[in-house]
Amino acid sequence: MTNYEQFMNRALILAMKGSGYVSPNPRVGAVIVENDKIIGEGWHKMFGGKHAEIEAAENSKRTDFSGCTLFVNLEPCSHVGKTPACSDFIISKKFSKVVVASLDPNPLVNGKGIRRIQEAGIEVVTGVLEKESNWINRFFFKYIQKKSPYVILKIAQSLDGNIALSSGISQWITGEESRKRSHQLRSEVDAVLVGKKTALLDNPSLTVRDVNGRNPYKIVLDSYLTLPLDLKILKCDDRDKTIICCSVNASTSRKAEILKLAGIKILPVETYENGKVTLEQMLVDLTEKFNITSIMVEGGAEIFSSFLERNLIDEIQLFMAPKIIGSGIQSFNNFKINKLNSVANFNIVDFDKSGDDIQITLVRN
Ligand SMILES: NC(=O)c1ccc[n+]([C@@H]2O[C@H](COP(=O)([O-])OP(=O)(O)OC[C@H]3O[C@@H](n4cnc5c(N)ncnc54)[C@H](OP(=O)(O)O)[C@@H]3O)[C@@H](O)[C@H]2O)c1
Repeated sequence: MTNYEQFMNRALILAMKGSGYVSPNPRVGAVIVENDKIIGEGWHKMFGGKHAEIEAAENSKRTDFSGCTLFVNLEPCSHVGKTPACSDFIISKKFSKVVVASLDPNPLVNGKGIRRIQEAGIEVVTGVLEKESNWINRFFFKYIQKKSPYVILKIAQSLDGNIALSSGISQWITGEESRKRSHQLRSEVDAVLVGKKTALLDNPSLTVRDVNGRNPYKIVLDSYLTLPLDLKILKCDDRDKTIICCSVNASTSRKAEILKLAGIKILPVETYENGKVTLEQMLVDLTEKFNITSIMVEGGAEIFSSFLERNLIDEIQLFMAPKIIGSGIQSFNNFKINKLNSVANFNIVDFDKSGDDIQITLVRN
């Protein structure tokens, strides 16, 4: 690693500390370096809070940064939003150099931040650890570019591709370490989502446990609002963070009124011909109405298959246990193709041992 990469790597580690708290903003970390030594560092801690550059400068206890280099993983902003423009701040504090990993795709910034700094005579270097930085902000990039959430499928399956026994029992196929990692992922996304049958059979809490972090929104797809009211996600203390997506008809029913009175959010969605909620519309509405930029879909097989069929998956987090179930419920049971060239292709971007299991990270190619 070059020096530039080392300091940018530190900025990326700091950026990750904002996970779960800054959305719909990006994760950003900043490091200030003088004579190859870090003199200040900071990160964007919460939505509406100070930007990473300002945090780093304040933590350094300095006011003049001539001779110093600022490392920041996302292009400094050039517009006044909830906080003043960082590019103006950098110019006023007389930084000598700014090193950036990714350009900000937000049309309000998109190269303007860097141009402004360069026009003030400050040297700017871009593209340092860009790939790693783009990965950290993949939720933000999708949100800005598509106005729709980044979709991760989290699958806990056996070696032979089953997520449950044929009886429906699935707890637990994977081990403790994999479950801990799943909770870590929950703490980073804005929402987790399950289908009606998973909500009914597993009665999950969908909360963050075993790791630090806040609970995401809990979303359940129940087209006709038939789920019983005593499920954990419907009677938990933070049920104002539970969203049920149902048909437009069901959303005006007596059951919908009861659920709303209990504080649960009801999202009416048009249905497909098969009567199930339209995923495309649901995703856009979740972003528009709840500022949700990332969703982790946790099953079951019908839901996984629907997302795959409609080409709505950005990433898969596959936890595979070295166990064979035989004839059970396959992860993508309802996904049917007739031609080999219609298979769904993914690229492996990472793999890692997770206790006795394997964790594989895949993206759609
Ligand atoms: N190992 C794992 O990773 C894992 C994770 C989760 C679940 N599971 C297991 O999976 C099993 C449940 O899976 P499942 O396939 O039977 O059911 P599911 O996917 O949990 O739920 C399917 C139901 O969701 C509703 N839904 C609404 N909109 C939909 C849409 N656009 N596409 C698909 N479904 C939609 C439908 O009911 P309505 O028509 O009534 O709306 C549908 O029948 C359980 O045994 C559970 O233990 C395993």
